[in-house]
Amino acid sequence: MDMIKTLGAAGVIPVIVIDDIEKAVPLARALVKGGLPVLEVTFRTACAAEAIGKIKAEVPGAILIAGTVLKLEQLVAAKAAGAEACVAPGFDPAIVDAANKLGIPFCPGVATASELSQALALGCKMVKFFPAESAGGVKYIKDLLGAFRWTGVKFMPTGGVKLSNVGDYLAVPEIICCGGTWIAPKDAIAAGDWAKIESLAADAAKLAKELKSKNA
Ligand code: 3PG
Repeated sequence: MDMIKTLGAAGVIPVIVIDDIEKAVPLARALVKGGLPVLEVTFRTACAAEAIGKIKAEVPGAILIAGTVLKLEQLVAAKAAGAEACVAPGFDPAIVDAANKLGIPFCPGVATASELSQALALGCKMVKFFPAESAGGVKYIKDLLGAFRWTGVKFMPTGGVKLSNVGDYLAVPEIICCGGTWIAPKDAIAAGDWAKIESLAADAAKLAKELKSKNA
């Protein structure tokens, strides 16, 4: 998968936490129907790999990435389940190196210039900026870009991003997409409120599309 192209085309990536495997497929259907096909299924719960496999098999159009990939066994499980890329909130050179060897695109998280330097040295072309709002938000990324723009690095901020501020991030050309849980809230998943999730996804997809055509 061309991670930058695919994630950039989506603009907004729902960050998903699945507690109940039965919710995985209807949740993914609602998000894809709302217009957000790239889904980050986080390894924060035990059924993450199973959820990736089920969604891939049962939801046409869904593109699966694995999130919160902190351990080698999660990386291996994500790839085996059919994830097309992996992301993490932090930068662990051993995991980035393992992903490079396994041939799966990996986007580590950074929050400092030093972490970004190290990620670039390992060949990463794209990084998460996490936790985006707490770490300095869009201003901080712009300041990093002052020194790093020439490298061509692309950003995916997550952490505190929502409909009200996603536009500020996506207005920066090097920020190709944003991730967040606001599109798949815990209470709506627990209640099986797929109409609400579809509508949240549609709002996010519409905004991302408008901003991208404006910035094109
Ligand atoms: C992530 O891992 O990307 C974050 O947990 C998402 O943060 P949010 O809940 O503030 O959207």
